[in-house]
Amino acid sequence: MKIFSGTSNKPLAQKIAKDLGLALSNLEIHIFPDGEKRVRVLGKVVNEDCIVVQPTSPEPDKNYMELFFIVDALRRSGANKIKAVIPYLGYQRQDHVFRIGEAVSLEVIATLLKWGGVDEVISFDLHSIKIPEIFKIKLTHLSALSIFAKEIKKIGKESVLVSPDMGGIRRIKILSEMLNNMPYAVIEKNRDLATGVITMTGISGKVEKNAIIVDDMISTGSTIVTAANLLKNKGAKNIYVFATHAVFSKDAPNILNNSALQKIFVTDTIDIPKEKQFAKLEVLSVATMISDNIKG
Ligand code: R5P
Repeated sequence: MKIFSGTSNKPLAQKIAKDLGLALSNLEIHIFPDGEKRVRVLGKVVNEDCIVVQPTSPEPDKNYMELFFIVDALRRSGANKIKAVIPYLGYQRQDHVFRIGEAVSLEVIATLLKWGGVDEVISFDLHSIKIPEIFKIKLTHLSALSIFAKEIKKIGKESVLVSPDMGGIRRIKILSEMLNNMPYAVIEKNRDLATGVITMTGISGKVEKNAIIVDDMISTGSTIVTAANLLKNKGAKNIYVFATHAVFSKDAPNILNNSALQKIFVTDTIDIPKEKQFAKLEVLSVATMISDNIKG
């Protein structure tokens, strides 16, 4: 077996390779002055099963194109099975038509991955459990919830799990079961699809204790910070966040660091560059879960 990394999260790829007792195999990725890329596999892959690690955000388009080229280069070089480890699957939020006239971006991605020669995808905490149905190739859906449960135990029993929207109820119920039926509350959230502006109108459940917000991803930070303000107003004590994917768009790191939040736990599904790291942030690794899955 050989393992390759695109440029979007080499530190994670290196950890996975180490867990597997392998070194990353070499690729040459050349960027032309106009931004186009040329990808070349160095070394032999004939009849080898190959793993390619490449989360696809940010920037999703750039990272997807690189992944497609790596997979194509492997195919042409005679690789056997190709598994794409895409811990953060870009475009997963556009998994159906929300408003008439829209593209289903994730369906396009699923088609391209299959056409491109990927045999299997491994991903983490997908936005919806229905996403694997969109794929015509095997999509293994892993979750960081068990990693979060270990950390939440350290915060203590006097806590309540909080989903910042109705879509997160399933996630929060699974976590509650892992934590001896820890109580949970759900916030009513609405997002204006045209402007992206969110409003939170209410919360079901008691929150006058440590509140632990759980979400699949943090992008602008707006969902988390609005939820934290609502929880403070409702009497929550310390407020923590556990979110799998640190997308961190725009000014998210600043907004989160200057918020009412005590601490923000994320995973390394997306590499967080130094300039986006901040004092209240703690990063937990999903590398072992991925390597265990690959080992089978
Ligand atoms: C939405 O349904 C997701 O689960 C996240 O809550 C959302 O994508 C986070 O985005 P932002 O940080 O921009 O509010």
